[in-house]
Amino acid sequence: MKILAIESSCDETAVAVVENGRKALSDCIASQVALHRVYGGVVPEIASRKHIEAIYPLADEALKTAGVTRKDIDAVAVTYAPGLIGAVLVGVNFAKAAAFSLSVPLIPVHHIRGHIAANYLADPELAPPFLCLAVSGGHTMLVHVKDYTEMEILGGTRDDAAGECFDKIARVLGMPYPGGAALDRAAQTGDGTKYPLPRAQVDGNPLDLSFSGLKTAAINLIHNAAQKGETVDVPSLCAAVCAAVSEALVSRTELALAQTGCKTLAVAGGVAANSRIRADVLALAQRRGLRLCLPPLSLCGDNAAMIGAQGYYEFLAGNVADQTLNAYATKSVLGEAL
Ligand code: KG4
Ligand code: ZN
Repeated sequence: MKILAIESSCDETAVAVVENGRKALSDCIASQVALHRVYGGVVPEIASRKHIEAIYPLADEALKTAGVTRKDIDAVAVTYAPGLIGAVLVGVNFAKAAAFSLSVPLIPVHHIRGHIAANYLADPELAPPFLCLAVSGGHTMLVHVKDYTEMEILGGTRDDAAGECFDKIARVLGMPYPGGAALDRAAQTGDGTKYPLPRAQVDGNPLDLSFSGLKTAAINLIHNAAQKGETVDVPSLCAAVCAAVSEALVSRTELALAQTGCKTLAVAGGVAANSRIRADVLALAQRRGLRLCLPPLSLCGDNAAMIGAQGYYEFLAGNVADQTLNAYATKSVLGEAL
């Protein structure tokens, strides 16, 4: 089954053709990052307009790269939530028109379910059940993937997402948007023990996380140094931030593994590209003898192939939509009724 998959929830327009949920025949991305960089963050209205300009030619490119024609497409999958509402709407409307004109099923896919499914492309043998640490710019959660479309959220952030924490600290350090990758690069030459940063513990669910205190502590450290005319050792501060975020994520992951008895761990989302987190997760997997799925960097960030991968399993589960499908800025990964 060949699925034409569409992703437009933030600042990347992406279209892919995915076969049977496991093989990306094409995976095309038109990034808007450079455009938003001058504003220090995504400008939603600009994002929506650029998605409209990019999506049609990108769909043609995705078909061409995959070596297929419109007639070969068996279904259209699209990110319908969550994201910037204007941006998601562009993808949803394009997908509705494509499914209607090709007379094929329309499959709505939750963006975070898509991130999780990037692991099916990275590791064709991976099958539920497994534990997934999903970390992106907008979400941080531990998901027990019991089956392809059956999930339980075991814990998550109470405030900022890990990516948001990286990006805001990077911004104060003068790094270009989105700063997560630049902060990671700067951290490579730093000493992560030089600046003591807080590790938050939250009341209630021991698997929950909080990153706002860490973000504030790092930003205060930068501002205090500036007021005193002192220079901050930027690589060491970046390394300390990476260490604090990674320790928080890995300690909760370890607890969740014990709680669920899962022997397979997958990692997903843009923040899964972070070198410290990748190294720590790998060490955890070796320590506990886990089967680890750590997607390549190209499958960590936003892409459409992951939407096609999850779309296949949503289709098999009967989760298809009609032409009344709407876009949603927020929606639970658990997949409530549309
Ligand atoms: O999954 P994603 O591409 O988009 C969302 O769904 O949010 O994640 C983007 C996030 C941004 O916050 C970005 O700074 C972060 O992933 N990111 C990183 C790295 N690469 C991307 N954060 C830390 N280290 C990295 N190497
Ligand atoms: Zn994403």
